[in-house]
Amino acid sequence: MDKLRIEGGNRLNGEIRISGAKNSALPILSATLLADGVMRVGNLPHLHDITTMLELLGCMGVEVAIDEDMSVETDCANIKSCVAPYDLVRTMRASILVLGPLLARYGEAEVSLPGGCAIGSRPVDLHIRGMEALGAEVDVEDGYIKARVPGGRLTGANIFFDTVTVTGTENVMMAAALAKGTTTIENAAREPEVVDLANCLNAMGAKISGAGSDTMVIEGVEKLYGCSFDVLPDRIETGTYLVAAAVTGGRVKTKDTDPVIMEAVLHKLEEAGADITIGDNWIELDMHGKRPKAVNVKTAPHPAFPTDMQAQFMVLNALAEGTGTVIETVFENRFMHAQELVRMGADIAVEGNTAIVTGKEKLQAAPVMATDLRASASLVIAALMAEGATDVNRIYHIDRGYECIEEKFQQLGANIRRISG
Ligand code: UD1
Repeated sequence: MDKLRIEGGNRLNGEIRISGAKNSALPILSATLLADGVMRVGNLPHLHDITTMLELLGCMGVEVAIDEDMSVETDCANIKSCVAPYDLVRTMRASILVLGPLLARYGEAEVSLPGGCAIGSRPVDLHIRGMEALGAEVDVEDGYIKARVPGGRLTGANIFFDTVTVTGTENVMMAAALAKGTTTIENAAREPEVVDLANCLNAMGAKISGAGSDTMVIEGVEKLYGCSFDVLPDRIETGTYLVAAAVTGGRVKTKDTDPVIMEAVLHKLEEAGADITIGDNWIELDMHGKRPKAVNVKTAPHPAFPTDMQAQFMVLNALAEGTGTVIETVFENRFMHAQELVRMGADIAVEGNTAIVTGKEKLQAAPVMATDLRASASLVIAALMAEGATDVNRIYHIDRGYECIEEKFQQLGANIRRISG
């Protein structure tokens, strides 16, 4: 298994290009199942999760052609199976995103239950209830969600989510786009990736309004068509590099990104003492050599502070002046990185869903291991400010979500390399 070896102590300085958003690319690739004709999706990040999604589409019979610049053309004319098998779903929970499109277009779907994961039990009950509300019959048998649509076409409905769910909202949106009649989603997720999917579906001929607010209205249409669509920039990748710059007292410019969708994170970075300058599609952070100040963060659905940036801000606090609290409200078990950071000398006390973090000027290198994607990224950031060489093990998690992470950090002056194992 590959690992990353990082020698701490270098202040980050330079520019990098931000990749397309994984969490936008995955639903949009699923949405290609709805397209009549060829669909092109561009600005895809080069990541394991994207390859897994393409493999999943391929095993259903979708013809997939990949360009050198990671744009993909799909054609669903010869679909032969509506099954998302366990072997693929267990490596990527987001495979559940094919449920809605399969039911809407083909009237049947068999999707393996994703099961638990490192950050909590993460059920999919809201996805299932959403499909039932649209008229699907759903059974859970032999570890699979087995669903069919009596009569062949879903019917619009009023759906209220009692918990805000990102992929649940996306699944219902995709299913409702081809349903008969109008669907209303209340307490919908407002994440920028949900808006990106709505924009893509509308470009395919869907009639979706209200994306980005908590009430969405989807007027079902008979057909959706292929189109060309570029996914939006990755706000979590952007935020990760900005936090890395902040903890090292450095200056980093992230290019090809979108400052508008990053408000909560940029606000916290400014509170931590960062000087932030933005343009249309770039963000520059300058710490002027200073150490960050501790900040309090509490995760919640967009537009509040994102759970996918929680681990990175825990590291920022671990290296900041003062004490900050980190409260996780979205996932029940998302502090696994705390213990690894403590092994590197961080002062972190966890009580339930709250971590109280008192900053230190430096951490110490130690072999560490990550249990999920964002936790792995936080360990890399911690290693940048640790004395000695840190090995971050099990980096297959990082490769699921960060394109060319070592090249990008090297470009910013970090001493980091991949060791194949
Ligand atoms: C998505 C993101 C993930 C991010 C998360 C929260 C993708 C591919 N992944 O995950 O990176 O961390 O949003 O911003 O976009 N829940 C239920 N029942 C359900 C579905 C969810 O109880 O059927 C609960 C979850 O356990 C969690 C909360 O709802 O506590 C929010 O989860 P959700 O928004 O669904 O996360 P994902 O869409 O899986």
